[in-house]
Amino acid sequence: MANKVSVLSGLQWGDEGKGKIVDLLSPEYDIVARYQGGANAGHTIVINGKKHVLHLIPSGIFTQGIICVIGNGTVLDLSALLEEIDLLKIEGIDPENRILISDNAHVIFPYHKIIDVINESEKNKIGTTKRGIGPAYFDKYARRGIRINDFYDETILFEKISNNIEFLKKTFASSAELNSLNADIVFGEAVKIFKNVSRFVSNTQVYLNSQIKNGKSILLEGAQGALLDVDFGTYPYITSSNPTSGGACTGTGIPPNKINDVIGIVKAYTTRVGEGPFPTELFDEAGKKIAQIGNEFGATTGRPRKCGWLDLVALRYACMIDGATELALTKSDVLSDFEYIFACTHYDINGKLTQEFPTNSNVLKTAKPVYKKFLGWKLSLSGISDFNKLDSAFKEYIKFIEDFVEVKIKYISTGPGRDEIIIR
Ligand code: IMP
Repeated sequence: MANKVSVLSGLQWGDEGKGKIVDLLSPEYDIVARYQGGANAGHTIVINGKKHVLHLIPSGIFTQGIICVIGNGTVLDLSALLEEIDLLKIEGIDPENRILISDNAHVIFPYHKIIDVINESEKNKIGTTKRGIGPAYFDKYARRGIRINDFYDETILFEKISNNIEFLKKTFASSAELNSLNADIVFGEAVKIFKNVSRFVSNTQVYLNSQIKNGKSILLEGAQGALLDVDFGTYPYITSSNPTSGGACTGTGIPPNKINDVIGIVKAYTTRVGEGPFPTELFDEAGKKIAQIGNEFGATTGRPRKCGWLDLVALRYACMIDGATELALTKSDVLSDFEYIFACTHYDINGKLTQEFPTNSNVLKTAKPVYKKFLGWKLSLSGISDFNKLDSAFKEYIKFIEDFVEVKIKYISTGPGRDEIIIR
């Protein structure tokens, strides 16, 4: 089979179950590369009943022989990365010669996390994960960021760190925490941690492109989801990167003409953590039931996720921006016990029906969902691997989604386990 380069990305507000699908598809690839975000992500993989949560390392790490790349588009908390590497070792996974970290990736420093917390205490709260993600990307675009390759000249590294700290002390004069930062200590700690991960550093854009030339297949793994995209999501209630497929190119250095397909991941219902509009959010027993059965708590922060019905208006928009060529539907098993299932097909905005996803969050906040009602399938999906054996009510739900978004659902996940999957 010819080699291929695929993007895999979330089509909602994150937590679609990307980790499981990356793990499932990994054997078809030689390399899995993360292209944006940082330790704000929490990708859950269940193997032989044991749950593993990854924040930075690509979900391909559990497939033997796969090389895992952390691309230039990510922001790296080096101590979180080191912890993750150590945890993998305890779990019996040897990361040596399996991980490559881009030397162009930006580094998250302790002051980024402090600023994240300060920003979140202000009026325009976003509900971030407080992992320093936004402030690190802020520095990147303000050209004050510190990249992995800066660690190779300690004189310049120290100068950059102390300049940044000095600047922050002036800017956030009332922050005792920032004002107590000592550049020598921040520098010393960063250098110490870096020494433990420096063996993984590489020019990953050159590596990835040379591997494509050598006929290798690459899966580009997104974190978060299209509706959290800094350009196309529900701004300002977004993350500070591009989870949509375009981000896969800028976040790895792989050009667009090398991408063969885009696998969009969508949950059979919708969840959201943090602030921001969510038209199909449920405030009733159905919402509580989804949260409970779906165990909808953040894999990184443990925060309860808000739950609601599937929003097809938003999904169609996300499929368009992502250029999704096929879909994976996850967590349909969570809806197995409902008498009726609903999916939003239109928004009612000020009495006008629309199927266009509004670009302005203030407008989206006013959107009332208009639903299509489906008969529930009232049948456990567990153990089913043949699409033809599915209940007709479930098949109808699948067909309606496919017709609405005009993309085929190729994978249907029927439970958290690696093998709980229907492939069509
Ligand atoms: P940040 O990425 O920590 O800056 O948070 C910005 C927004 O993205 C907040 O609403 C977070 O809850 C959300 N977010 C960030 N990472 C994830 C994720 O992995 N899953 C779901 N939501 C996320």
